[in-house]
Amino acid sequence: MMLDAGICVRSLELDDRNQQMELPPRPTLFDFRGVSMTTYFTDNWDNVQRFQARPDDVLIATYPKAGNTWVSYILDLLYFSHTAEGRDSVPLFERVPFLELYVPGFPIGVDELNELTRKPRLIKTHLPVQFLPRSFWEQNSKIVYVARNAKDTAVSYFHFDRMNLAQPEPGDWSSFLHRFMQGKMVFGSWYEHVKGWWQKKQSGSNILYLFYEDLIEDTERELGALCSFLGLAPTAALTEAVMKEALFDSMKRNALVNGSTATSLDLNVSPFIRKGKVGDWKNHFTVEQNEQFDEDYGEKMTNTDLQFRTVL
Ligand code: A3P
Repeated sequence: MMLDAGICVRSLELDDRNQQMELPPRPTLFDFRGVSMTTYFTDNWDNVQRFQARPDDVLIATYPKAGNTWVSYILDLLYFSHTAEGRDSVPLFERVPFLELYVPGFPIGVDELNELTRKPRLIKTHLPVQFLPRSFWEQNSKIVYVARNAKDTAVSYFHFDRMNLAQPEPGDWSSFLHRFMQGKMVFGSWYEHVKGWWQKKQSGSNILYLFYEDLIEDTERELGALCSFLGLAPTAALTEAVMKEALFDSMKRNALVNGSTATSLDLNVSPFIRKGKVGDWKNHFTVEQNEQFDEDYGEKMTNTDLQFRTVL
């Protein structure tokens, strides 16, 4: 049983998956060491910070809604396609535990990871770079960071918060976008998150920095980059299988990755695997919102050479 940015998951028989679990009221944001968070990701802080990473761990780090599930699934397929090992019954969120997750009544991310016997351990995180446990740097674990342009991230996050009862109330789109620009989101400021990890990557750490837009543009090319970073040489047959299974439509149909097993997600409000596009922001931003956003973006992103594409 695992969670996503607030996704509560239980191991279910698939015909049991619509059964709803009673959830506590939605959490509220608070300032945690300069970053907006909810207690679902801070209440186990000391244990998260003491987490013992290993050299062969692979961490998938993203700001929420940047494609963590997609890349986690690609890696799970690349490493474990050849094993039977629960692939037909265990949700992805259990196969790739969420490091900082801590919701009373649910298994704890750190505990799940400590119990995981398979190698390498694939680990999910949304932590900003300054919060990552020290042992990842000490052990030189491999880190795949995925970044997505701010506008599509904001839209995706809005729909996610609408349907995820373990996230704060999103309010209406206009107020949500305003809060996004202020960094008052769970896991803090998108701007600081993508810049912080980008800067860390420049110092030669063991980080592959990928872009969601590149993955959409040419998934096979990015798969190649992932494999060469991880020292993997998949057969042509495996590459083909990964490409097929990790397609948006395949993942949307796959109950073990599409959020069907997540008790905190109301898929009637919005799907978890929702649109999978670059440029959906155009269906949400008004002309005025876009102008304000661009102006503010220019100010927040002056001190970096990090570039994003908002259209392909
Ligand atoms: P949208 O809401 O824009 O559709 P995360 O896993 O980090 O929460 O990211 C979720 C976003 O990744 C969602 O974006 C989701 O649809 C998208 N996504 C998931 N699987 C995908 C795939 N196979 N191809 C393209 N996008 C995918």
